[in-house]
Amino acid sequence: MGTNRPIKHNKLNELTGTQWLKFQKSWFVHNPPPRGKETLLHPAKFPEDLCQQFIEFFTKPGQLVLDPMAGTGSALVAAVRAGRQAIGVELNPDYAELARSRLKQENGGDKWGVICADARDIDTLDIEPVDYVITSPPYWDMLHREGFESQQQRRAAEGQDVFYSDSDQDLGNIGDYQQFLDELVAIYRKVAGLMRPRAYATIIVKNVKKGGEVYPLAWHLALRLSEFLQLKDEKIWCQDNQRLAPYGMGSAWVSNTMHHYCLNFRQQ
Ligand SMILES: C[S@@+](CC[C@H](N)C(=O)[O-])C[C@H]1O[C@@H](n2cnc3c(N)ncnc32)[C@H](O)[C@@H]1O
Repeated sequence: MGTNRPIKHNKLNELTGTQWLKFQKSWFVHNPPPRGKETLLHPAKFPEDLCQQFIEFFTKPGQLVLDPMAGTGSALVAAVRAGRQAIGVELNPDYAELARSRLKQENGGDKWGVICADARDIDTLDIEPVDYVITSPPYWDMLHREGFESQQQRRAAEGQDVFYSDSDQDLGNIGDYQQFLDELVAIYRKVAGLMRPRAYATIIVKNVKKGGEVYPLAWHLALRLSEFLQLKDEKIWCQDNQRLAPYGMGSAWVSNTMHHYCLNFRQQ
């Protein structure tokens, strides 16, 4: 059983036995806290404390964490809070600037960098070998889906972004699922090229539904990335504070999807 003492000869992290065991559970419930005003601008960020738990499991202090689609910089903020170094790439200049300003508030000194660029070019950005990757891609073009117009209108009326950007380079604007998947996998292949031997990567993603069809994005990524990284199983992130919608009531099974897959991979 676990103990509250640091694990001897621990090559991966600085956790105690109890902390290690707790993290090994394959699911967890995390209800994101209300967002600060500045980060509401972004349509879909993940919580810093969730990210910090992953970073503290998969790295030691001082190691370098990469998020190739950094958004508001949640992963980078979490890395700096955990005493790690952080590097992020983000396409939208407003989000890249937001991430920088959040990081400046963290007293992380010069332990971080945010590059505004297309992640397709990540292999040309002079990023040094990284010890851990934690990231979340656009969930295909779900921000453009029909049926959420009132939610989108409310966000727009409050001056918040409805889409990540209008850019053709934005993966969230690719309408064809197969093309989206191929381009995302090509980016992750380049990201894998930046990972040190035996480094881990965690990709937070959902399966998506569109027009009555399920597109198993998480499962496709698990399979496709296994061509160049070792798949190390998932942790399932459950949320249990969302309002249930009566999809298909009385006629068909349509789930209220309240879980994300945190897919873990390891470099050989
Ligand atoms: C799910 S969000 C990431 C949110 C981030 N984890 C956070 O907590 O703020 C996906 C991000 O990918 C960015 N993105 C889309 N296409 C990109 C590309 N080609 N290169 C780099 N970033 C891209 C979007 O602008 C968006 O911020």
